[in-house]
Order: sequence, then structure tokens, then C-alpha cells
Amino acid sequence: MLDLDVAARMGTTEDFAPDLAPANAPSSPSALPLAHLYERVSKHVTPAEWPLIVRDVEAIERLKKQRNAVVLGHNYQAPEIFNTVADIVGDSLALAREAVTVDADVIVMAGVHFMAETAKLLNPSKIVLMPDMEAGCSLAESITAEDIRLLRQRYPGVPVVTYVNTSAEVKAESDYCCTSGNAVKVVRAVAKEWGVNRILMLPDEYLARNVQKEVPEIELIAWKGHCEVHERFTPQDIRDLRENHPGVVVLAHPECPPEVVAAADYAGSTAGMADYVRDEKPARVVLITECSMADNVAVNHPDVEFVRPCNLCPHMRRITLPNIRRALETMGHQVEIDPAVADRARLAVERMLAIR
Ligand code: 13P
Ligand code: SF4
Repeated sequence: MLDLDVAARMGTTEDFAPDLAPANAPSSPSALPLAHLYERVSKHVTPAEWPLIVRDVEAIERLKKQRNAVVLGHNYQAPEIFNTVADIVGDSLALAREAVTVDADVIVMAGVHFMAETAKLLNPSKIVLMPDMEAGCSLAESITAEDIRLLRQRYPGVPVVTYVNTSAEVKAESDYCCTSGNAVKVVRAVAKEWGVNRILMLPDEYLARNVQKEVPEIELIAWKGHCEVHERFTPQDIRDLRENHPGVVVLAHPECPPEVVAAADYAGSTAGMADYVRDEKPARVVLITECSMADNVAVNHPDVEFVRPCNLCPHMRRITLPNIRRALETMGHQVEIDPAVADRARLAVERMLAIR
């Protein structure tokens, strides 16, 4: 069910007063306003709901022009955001890369807080807006800057690679950042550059263990952080999916437990999974990850049958069209990072981006 959040629009400026659903909304999809966009979300939005969504979409487009703003949308965003107002979509790595090149004064992050912080780190002079500051991440919550300082005392001289799903304070204590899309490459590059065979890889235990399988020559020391969405998948889920959906190709995100990844046919970042579907065109596929991802990938692949177990990320779900609209109306909530922290954190992210 869509969160139309009408009440939350109260108290905005007169220009953007709350809208009411038109009494006679057309029911034929081709007669709907912005019908070309409706086509992309028609499996998730009813014709009756669409006119309300259109009002937010049109207001956001108007505001984007006024503010010279762009919306970055993560692959887990709800279809009615991903397919309408997001100007640039992708995985964490793509969003970090795009944040560097973006030609706008304002960046709205349709994603979670660490993604907005990364965009701000790479664009200190731009305004970065977070539609809901509470959109966090269980991995980012699992480790603090103090934890890293203590680990450095315990493992002197061992380089620290932290997952992008961390706070700026944690990145500031790290040597390199990585994402699920480049973790293996980063770990190999760090081992070579530093001439070491031990690396602290934090805070996602499962990502570290999955990467470890690819780099047996390097010892990865892990932390106990987990993604609350991906840790719920089990090898039994995969067996059941294969039994109930014969021939299904199983793609898993590397934040899943290693036993789940081992039972899958392919593991990769959200972009890696989307590329797999595009390139391999499996007849039937299941994405073992946050479930809006399948909704978004399926739009471009009508011939592929998507099996859809559903684990939603509650943090990603906090971002809605009404709160994106409100962010642009009020220019809130602006992401700020202490400059002393930002300078060190930026270094870790830039070192990652320099690895090709
Ligand atoms: P990606 O970097 O693969 O987009 O993943 C981000 C994330 O939060 C996965 O849970
Ligand atoms: Fe964090 Fe997991 Fe949500 Fe990704 S899916 S943002 S790792 S809680």
C-alpha cells in the first residue's frame, strides 16, 4: 500500500497546499496524466491512486527546476519514486560516483543517511537534502569511530577497509572505503599497495566472509555487523524457492549469510544483480535482497518471470514522494558533516573511487 502521507503535507507553503484526490479520476491507464510514467508503476499503483502521485511528481519536477536540484535514487527505492522523480539511479557505488559529477546546486538523496553523507563528502559545496533523517541502516549503527580506534590498537599496522554503509565518523577512522560492488577489488588493491596479507574489513561480517572466499591469500578480520534485511534469508529459503519454482536462477546480495550466497547461482551488488538479469535474461529469477529491487528491475524485463519473496528495508521505506517534495519546499533536512571529520572521511572514499 502506498504511503501517501497526506497529513504530512500540512503546513507547507500556499503554493504546495495539500491536494485532494480528484472525484472523477480516469480509470483507463492511457487516459491518465503522465501515462508514460504510469506504465512503469502500474503493477504497484492503482489508477485511482495515480492522480495523487502525479501531483507530487509534478510539484517535485517544478521544485527541481527552481532549486537546480537532482534526485539520486537507490535501487531499493519504491517504484513510484524510482520510476518517476529519480534523475540518477543505481547501487551505492554508482550513486557515490555520480555524486562527484552531478551538475546541480542541490542533491536530494532518495536512499538512506549514509548515502546522503557520502554525497555530501564528495560535494562539500552543495546542499544535500535528506527527506527523512531517520532513514538509517543497521550496518551503519553496528560500529562507532571509537570501535575502530580500539581495533587499531589491537591490530597495529593492519589497514582498515570499511563498507560504505557506515557513518562519516567511522569512515574518518578508516584507510579505505568499499561497497559491495568493488569490495574484492579494493581488498586486493590495499593488500598490494600496503604489502600486507591482513586487513580489517568492517563492519559487515557476512560481506567480509563472502569476500574472504574470493581472496584466500588475504586474511580478513571481520566485525559482527549485519544487515537486518539480508540476515533473514536462510539456505532453506533457497532450497524451498528452487523446489517451488523449478529452474529459478537465484541471485543474492553479498550482505546475505555466506551459506545463502553459497546456495545462490550468482552474488553481486544491487547493480550487479540488475546487470545479470539484463545480460543473461533468465526465464525465471529470484533476487535475494530487498524486495523493491525486483519491482524496479522487472519493469525493464517483461519477459522475465520474477519470483518475489519480500523483505523490505524499513529505512529505505521512510523515503516517500511527499517527503521528497517537502524537502525541496523547505530545503530541509540538510546534511552537515564536521569539516575535521569530513576531510578524513573523504580521503577514504576518494581512495576507493581511485581504484579502477
Ligand atoms: P548496494 O551497494 O549493492 O546498492 O547495496 C547497498 C545496500 O544498502 C544493500 O543493502
Ligand atoms: Fe542498511 Fe540493510 Fe537497509 Fe541496505 S537493506 S540500507 S544494508 S538495513
